Amino acid sequence: MSEQQNVYPVREDIAANAWADEATYQAMYQQSVDDPEGFWAEQAKRLDWIKAPTRIKNTSFARDNVDIRWFEDGQLNVSANCLDRHLEKRGDQTAIIWEGDDPNDSKHISYRELYERTNQLANGLKELGVGKGDTVTLYMPMIPEAAMAMLACARIGAVHSVVFGGFSPDAVAQRVIGADSKLVITADESVRGGKQVPLKDNVDAALTRDGTDVCKNVLVVKRTGGDIEWKEGRDLWFGDLVDKQSTECEPEAMGAEDPLFILYTSGSTGAPKGLKHTTGGYLTFAAMTHQYVFDYQDGEVYWCTADVGWVTGHSYIVYGPLANGATTLMFEGVPSYPTHGRMGDIVDKHNVNILYTAPTAVRALMAHGENVMDSSKRDSLRLLGSVGEPINPEAWEWFYRVIGNEKCPIVDTWWQTETGGIMISPLPGATPLKPGSATKPFFGVQPALVDNEGNLLEGAAEGNLVILDAWPGQARSIWGDHDRFVQTYFSTYDNMYFTGDGCRRDEDGYYWITGRVDDVLNVSGHRMGTAEIESSLVAHSAVAEAAVVGFPHDIKGQGIYIYVTLNDEIDPTDELKKELTQWVRKDIGPIASPDVIQWAPGLPKTRSGKIMRRILRKIAANECDGLGDTSTLADPSVVDELIEHRVNQ
Ligand code: WT7
Repeated sequence: MSEQQNVYPVREDIAANAWADEATYQAMYQQSVDDPEGFWAEQAKRLDWIKAPTRIKNTSFARDNVDIRWFEDGQLNVSANCLDRHLEKRGDQTAIIWEGDDPNDSKHISYRELYERTNQLANGLKELGVGKGDTVTLYMPMIPEAAMAMLACARIGAVHSVVFGGFSPDAVAQRVIGADSKLVITADESVRGGKQVPLKDNVDAALTRDGTDVCKNVLVVKRTGGDIEWKEGRDLWFGDLVDKQSTECEPEAMGAEDPLFILYTSGSTGAPKGLKHTTGGYLTFAAMTHQYVFDYQDGEVYWCTADVGWVTGHSYIVYGPLANGATTLMFEGVPSYPTHGRMGDIVDKHNVNILYTAPTAVRALMAHGENVMDSSKRDSLRLLGSVGEPINPEAWEWFYRVIGNEKCPIVDTWWQTETGGIMISPLPGATPLKPGSATKPFFGVQPALVDNEGNLLEGAAEGNLVILDAWPGQARSIWGDHDRFVQTYFSTYDNMYFTGDGCRRDEDGYYWITGRVDDVLNVSGHRMGTAEIESSLVAHSAVAEAAVVGFPHDIKGQGIYIYVTLNDEIDPTDELKKELTQWVRKDIGPIASPDVIQWAPGLPKTRSGKIMRRILRKIAANECDGLGDTSTLADPSVVDELIEHRVNQ
């Protein structure tokens, strides 16, 4: 089917000036896998090192010894690479264009201003007793202070852990405890789509939870001036701490393998895990991918619409672009406010050249028709990017035609929180595009497909996506739980990193990601574990048992479908459905809002008591004819009952 799709050849105007054309890509890719040491030693030179590395690659994927080190004897500072080294040439160039939620609110921050403010904050953090190796939790709006906070931590060698501003107080508490954070940086409120979100209130609530007393201070940016509670001795205003500080702060010399940040993400089991990313390899990879995948040219305005709470924001709003001396746009609001044309309006207002967004945003626009972008021309655009979930060919074509005016290549970038940076993606000057395919591996990345037994599949095939050797940007561990890291990623198949994704490779060697093969959901590009939602539900006194599955959703990609078995004597009312919806939103955050709740007097289980999710997924997707073999169920009749009362979405 997809083989008959359109192929978009490389545009000559792009290839002529691109960092890599087809021949360059081939040659560099070959070198990157034949001689990774030589290749990455050369690439590390894109950074300023305090001590240049001599030991380049020292990595093992063996399950009894998972140990990943890049540039291990090198020393550098990430903030110095993102700021100091640009001052001479581009001190007055805009580093960050900030576009507020309100379309009349925007500002430009130069590299010099960003440098000075970051240093002041770094000195402020030191005054609070934060130093090398300490962890700091950030729970912030999309404002420049979020980037400053990340960079200030990096400057003094503190490890940041950014928590997405849409998560609940419990999620904040869990992460403060998990990372042992002595400081939380937040704002009074964030503003999204004209509405205030009470960040400081949420932090207050989080810090009443048991175990959070590790946290000694809360630093608060005044964003809205809204009413907040104040805890003397613990809470401090950002301005009060920072304004008085010196604008010079010596960057800490960090080992290449010292941690830079922790970022929590969901897996198929258990609580979210804090991936540990380190310094030298991460920044080399973030900077290189940003340059090549987006073909970033000096002076261009680049906009990634993600939130800094996700890895995309880390690598492609902050670290990659700033390491490259780019102008990066940071948007506080949502694409639908005040109108659905907002994204295009922002492109025109700031002459954006490169727009990196998510399939769910494209599909949401598509739903509003061909004219949804008519308030803007978007002539400045040169390149488009997609990330977070598979982009269906219809959405790809619409993105290309309506947003990009049929002149911008689309880079569909496959990667993960764990990979630190882009792994499979076209290069705009090198790769003919096939809508829906992430196409080819980036330099140094060796993808492969295996069957369920771990046998490598050759040629055109479909299987589980693994990566055969280490790359500099990958996570090194799970914070405080290396065994879980090994278990999750290196135990399914010998000597391979297992991605959790299914994938097809076509006869041209193009990769087509088919989605998760584990119990992880991807709702609007947000990753969630079914187990997390289930454990939230069973904590409600009315609930005996719950099973959560994804189902195809036109805009979100996947929706959340929940089967709930109630305790005896509890009435299955619509009121209770609403209550359970609120319960999950409060517990995890609005992104985990159930789309459908179905009462399930019984769940399909094997005789050993294991829930057959395969069947529940089929029912949720309304594919009730193809349920397959149900004879192994303890009680096959529960399936008929569920089909009969299936809830239409
Ligand atoms: C999962 C990772 C990568 C940063 C944002 C998400 C899915 C991501 C694509 C893509 C198909 C994609 C995968 C992956 N995914 N990008 N271009 N095509 N699927 O990071 O939250 O760690 O989620 O998102 O399933 O495993 P994340």
